Amino acid sequence: MAILIDGKALAAKLQGELAEKTARLTEETGVVPGLVVIIVGENPASQVYVRNKERSAIAAGFRSEVVRLPETIQQHELLELIEQYNQDPLWHGILVQLPLPKHIDDEAVLLAIDPAKDVDGFHPLNMGRLWAGNPVMVPSTPAGIMEMFKAYGIELEGKRAVVIGRSNIVGKPMAQLLLAKNATVTLTHSRTHHLAKIAKTADILVVAIGRAKFVTADFVKEGAVVIDVGMNRDEDGKLCGDVDFDAVSPIASHLTPVPGGVGPMTITMLMEQTYEAAVRSVK
Ligand code: GUN
Repeated sequence: MAILIDGKALAAKLQGELAEKTARLTEETGVVPGLVVIIVGENPASQVYVRNKERSAIAAGFRSEVVRLPETIQQHELLELIEQYNQDPLWHGILVQLPLPKHIDDEAVLLAIDPAKDVDGFHPLNMGRLWAGNPVMVPSTPAGIMEMFKAYGIELEGKRAVVIGRSNIVGKPMAQLLLAKNATVTLTHSRTHHLAKIAKTADILVVAIGRAKFVTADFVKEGAVVIDVGMNRDEDGKLCGDVDFDAVSPIASHLTPVPGGVGPMTITMLMEQTYEAAVRSVK
């Protein structure tokens, strides 16, 4: 049976350490890390994520603000608001929750955020830095997965890693971070031919394809480390990942549960990046 990678426990530990580091920073420099989260419209999943981010920021000892904007807001109004936060030294992290309504251009919004405050790591400059091998701000989900590898002593150097899913938020930055640790990386997606056969070559398999229980026993080599980024509902309405947990657990050496795996780490890493941005602001 696979060893469970307990993201919830690891996130709680890191979050405790972060609160201590933050208290020290504030005592020594007077700086309180500040995170502003901007949410447009009423997407229920986004509302939950934003509430959790706010809770986590407050627990870490940060200054936290959530700006809730109506669905009808015009793009130029949103851009003007972002510019105000760019200019205000109280805020070290600015995050615009995605998805945005259709009349707003995501790219224009991500470009408007000061790259030094882009704690999501979605600004093209930060994405480019990651691809060039000089990461500054890294998307939180893959950053959290890298922390899991570290905490569980999972060696990456020279290993064969397969990433399923090529989103800008998870798949692409994940591939880069694995490459930076000298893994041999294959980035696959929903149109990849012979996907199960390729996945089965992996020592490290990261799945972020957004389909409930997509990865079955056929995709997994004996002893592989399997990371499940999915968050779906199964046919009974129960929360489940992109990996068929019961089928894969007897084969994998390590496996992340859903919930309680990757999810809690994502928010903690966002807080870490905000803290780091605040530290850089006083250097
Ligand atoms: N929507 C889903 N995941 C994310 C994320 O990590 N950051 C932002 N800004 N929006 C999201």
